[in-house]
Amino acid sequence: MINDEYIKFQNLLRVNLYGQTKVKGLFYDLKEERLLSSDLYSRDYRVSPEHVWEKMREDHPLFYDDIGKMWWVTRYEDVKTVFSDHETFSSSTYDLTTGQVVGPTLISRDDHGHVVRRSIVAPDFVGKRLQTYEHLISKCADNLIQRFSSKSDISLVREFSSQLPVDVISAILGMDGDGYLFRTWVTDMIMGLSGSEELREKGLEANAAFCSHIAPLLEGADGGERNDHIAKIARAEIDGQRLTKEEITAFCGLLFIAGGETTDKAIANMWWNVLSNSDIRDAVLDDISLWDYAFTETMRRTPAVISEDRFVTKPFELYGSEIKEGERIRACLGAAHLDPTVFADPLTFDLFRSDLHLGKENRSGVSKDSMRSGHFGFGLGKHFCIGYELARKEAVMGSEMIIEKLGIPSLSKGQTGPTIQGNSFFAVKELLVSFTS
Ligand code: HEM
Repeated sequence: MINDEYIKFQNLLRVNLYGQTKVKGLFYDLKEERLLSSDLYSRDYRVSPEHVWEKMREDHPLFYDDIGKMWWVTRYEDVKTVFSDHETFSSSTYDLTTGQVVGPTLISRDDHGHVVRRSIVAPDFVGKRLQTYEHLISKCADNLIQRFSSKSDISLVREFSSQLPVDVISAILGMDGDGYLFRTWVTDMIMGLSGSEELREKGLEANAAFCSHIAPLLEGADGGERNDHIAKIARAEIDGQRLTKEEITAFCGLLFIAGGETTDKAIANMWWNVLSNSDIRDAVLDDISLWDYAFTETMRRTPAVISEDRFVTKPFELYGSEIKEGERIRACLGAAHLDPTVFADPLTFDLFRSDLHLGKENRSGVSKDSMRSGHFGFGLGKHFCIGYELARKEAVMGSEMIIEKLGIPSLSKGQTGPTIQGNSFFAVKELLVSFTS
């Protein structure tokens, strides 16, 4: 945990070193100053991390954060290397996060075991097979929209974006029951990853409730006629062996939290980006198919997840420093997306970027058009997000349906953009939206 006293001490050090007081809330003075680890844990950083990221990319492309005890990389190419080189950068960091709440899963493995487990479910979440879920997404979105379709003002996050992904993933898993209760389980399980003992306890309780709920579904999985994902995972064989009961529940738990969280943040951030600029809003209202571009540019400019951590498995040299085996490195993709050597005018939300691979993501991040680069909002390479197409469909279809039912949206007064939540989420907490027909 970050020690407040230590942060205060670091800020004092800054005053002494530079003989000037850091004006709270103003980051432009960072240009003149050395970056301190405490800058990465300040309130200012959470509200507006872009200035710190710029400083890191320019002056400290490899930065040692002595509060978090880890290295940070922020340039596009370096983040790409960390995501792509699975032999040097291991995802076993997840043993300390998701592993502590749902149990060990494929996300923390880099071996053949990862590949075979991933292949049990991944094909169902892309292409033609994913299309079979369109009806489900539309039904879940419609259920929610009906509850607020007679209103002219809505709380987008509370009434829609935080619930839709949970309803969809729980239905895909084959769970039946109270969607709002499922939502609280997802939230508590995700909060349990933060590193706080107290929150981990709550996360474990939510996971226990989730496991009890799916236990009867595991019992009946052998029949063969069930097509839900709990049954598919329970029936799957790896080298002639079924997964253990613990492995099956952990696998389902991973899909439940990965599918239930993050998409909500992507939807809310997308609405913020579209509605906070009237030209963009009008363009999207004029041509509803632009929601798709809005989703991609949102994943670049305001990605729901801004960083992923890895353990270094062998000594690695970067910018003249050696990162030792066993050390932790943070690939800050949020900063990489604002790298001006890759994306022109990177702070601008631009629906028609000529340098971004728009539309559907791919695992390599490389676009067929050599002038366009992919975003890393769904990761890259081996651990590339399984639900990337599902998330896009939920966001785009859901948004189109709201507009169709409620009319022309605009932001209510006083709405604010995304801020950093926990360690690695970047999200609009709530968005009040008014509609006129
Ligand atoms: C906008 C929404 C989403 C975002 C921003 C997101 C982000 C990510 C990222 C960054 C990774 C890579 C993690 C790493 O390399 O350390 C990942 C992996 C993963 N995501 Fe997503 N995700 C989203 C939606 C979903 C959905 C809807 C599902 C449900 C199927 C899902 C399931 C997974 C799983 C299972 C993995 C682990 C894949 C592996 O280790 O091979 N995600 N996601």
